[in-house]
Amino acid sequence: IRLLAKNGKLKNKNVLITAGGTKEALDPLRYITNRSSGKMGYALAQAAVEAGAVVTLISTVERRLPFGSKLIKVTDAREMLDTVLEHFDKTDIFISAAAVSDFRPAKQSNQKIKKTGNQGLKVELVQNPDILATVGAKKTGQFVVGFAAETENIVEYAKNKLVKKHADMIVANEVGHPDSGFNVDNNRVIIFRPKQAQKEFPLQSKIDTARSIIEEIIKSVFE
Ligand code: CTP
Ligand code: CA
Repeated sequence: IRLLAKNGKLKNKNVLITAGGTKEALDPLRYITNRSSGKMGYALAQAAVEAGAVVTLISTVERRLPFGSKLIKVTDAREMLDTVLEHFDKTDIFISAAAVSDFRPAKQSNQKIKKTGNQGLKVELVQNPDILATVGAKKTGQFVVGFAAETENIVEYAKNKLVKKHADMIVANEVGHPDSGFNVDNNRVIIFRPKQAQKEFPLQSKIDTARSIIEEIIKSVFE
């Protein structure tokens, strides 16, 4: 792998990858999150390292770190955005693999929220910043890749995200299936790029999916 990496197409390229589901605090003990495992982000880091890249992972989860890559641990969406922005200027390829929580509690209590009598609890949620759209709008030559997690209308929604977020590539995957998507080992994806035919991949392991995605990024960046 190291021999390959030395001569890889992404040699000296800085690849920045977000991974995992963000955790949005309600109080010091509790948070709202989603089913993301971070596996796809870490697999992409591995595939990018294999291609010779200098990889920085900004992640909410700690998994086995690909050799030579660097991890910055974050918790919530706003912290992830700040950390991405700190690194974006020196990034060549940004891959937004994190499952960023769309919403966070409007208020974070400094103390544990206590029950009052036998009442329920109403929690107001506000929208989080969109990290991918933010960097898509301010990119200066970086190649920007996003995902689209969909349970229906995958082609239409993925194409919309490509345009709306100014992404150079959207990797769409159908989630909510037992064999593909969140927190499983396999994935089936369709890649969308501006003004190009969509490209469908078979059901494969997340590491092989990641290698396919990195290969497509290399083609887009260098050809
Ligand atoms: N994303 C992001 N910041 C957010 C929400 C999403 O950076 N606050 C990124 C994800 O990392 C992914 C892409 O945007 O690369 C699409 O995420 P997805 O959840 O599929 O789409 P949303 O734009 O959040 O729209 P919706 O969930 O309503 O379909
Ligand atoms: Ca979302």
